[in-house]
Amino acid sequence: MLLTAGRLVRRLRRVPRIGWVTADPLTARRILNDPEHFSLLGEGGVGHLWAQVLGDWVYEIFDGPGHHQLRARTRDLFTDESARRLTDRVIGARLARAGAELRGGGTVDVADLARVLVGRIVADLLQLAVVDRDESYREIFATGEELASLALGTTASTRLGPETVARAKAIVSRLTANVADSWRSAPAETVLGRCRELGLERRQAEGLATLLMVAGTETAASAMARTVAILHDTGAQHRLRGNPELLPDAVREGLRVTTPAPLIGRAVSADVTVDGRWLRAGERVLMLTYTANNAAGGFDLDRGYQPDQRQLWFGAGRHLCLGAPLARAEISGLLRTLLETGRPWRIESRRYRRSVLIPSYASLPVRLA
Ligand code: HEM
Repeated sequence: MLLTAGRLVRRLRRVPRIGWVTADPLTARRILNDPEHFSLLGEGGVGHLWAQVLGDWVYEIFDGPGHHQLRARTRDLFTDESARRLTDRVIGARLARAGAELRGGGTVDVADLARVLVGRIVADLLQLAVVDRDESYREIFATGEELASLALGTTASTRLGPETVARAKAIVSRLTANVADSWRSAPAETVLGRCRELGLERRQAEGLATLLMVAGTETAASAMARTVAILHDTGAQHRLRGNPELLPDAVREGLRVTTPAPLIGRAVSADVTVDGRWLRAGERVLMLTYTANNAAGGFDLDRGYQPDQRQLWFGAGRHLCLGAPLARAEISGLLRTLLETGRPWRIESRRYRRSVLIPSYASLPVRLA
């Protein structure tokens, strides 16, 4: 409701119980690029949420000079090239199997496949020792999702109850059980091995691993399945099949119209005037990025780069999504698999997921026409 009503908000408006709200891409980017007055550590920001689960050291890593140092060291953790190598290595064979199933006349549930693929990536990032079968990766995905879902209902306040904090702590320690060891000994081609070589301390690597899992699980799986559905529903798949050079445009447009992280919150850390409104320290601001990105219109392979939105689906400024190249590589990998079958795909049925943080499909079985 908020995202739809946000169409009327546009610039900056105060909404009871929520705080300042904007659906304007330029205002949102201005706020995200202003670390002097906005922080994600105070009430209203995701750092405040995580500090309650992970401990006060989050305040040293999620924002301010510690965060700056972490981002400077991890600048090249994911490049387009390294993300492509990672996805080829970790999900390439599973994608090839899905392509073969489709070519053989079978049905592939793309929503389930996306969860399995993302589960595989998470297992590799966190160096989890699992039996190599889909069920293990579904479980990893579900655990990451359970952790992210603890943020449900925090739109009005990012303060968590003691029970939620205890549940979150248990999940984090289960998922990051191997991080400390892997940071010490994992080979350089793994992300944790790279973290070590880039000079990250153990605690930084642990914090980053948790972040990667939470930030990159539901978001990526949602964008993957929803982009497949949009290409089908708009008929754009036919043009894309004949013009594979449009793949980056399809990925960008898919990310824009789905905007899997539909809003971003910040705490106002110092008084500031934005768009003629006076925001005071201690208040909070919500940026409705879904609404801002969709103001440009529906999915269109010819839309091109939008200077107002830029890539607001990945945020902006010092917290710009660290995994953006990886997310793009995952979506491209799935689309390429479908396109390389040489035939259009048909959606057999669709079911939406309920009570999840990120809108997504529960199932999306597809078959070749
Ligand atoms: C379609 C998929 C994705 C979307 C839409 C997305 C979106 C975002 C957004 C909007 C932010 C900024 C949050 C803020 O400013 O408060 C962010 C941050 C982040 N994302 Fe992503 N993300 C995606 C996938 C991934 C993946 C695959 C990873 C890595 C495995 C990842 C890792 C991160 C990290 C580590 C941050 C925190 C960066 C920081 O605070 O410096 N994301 N993401």
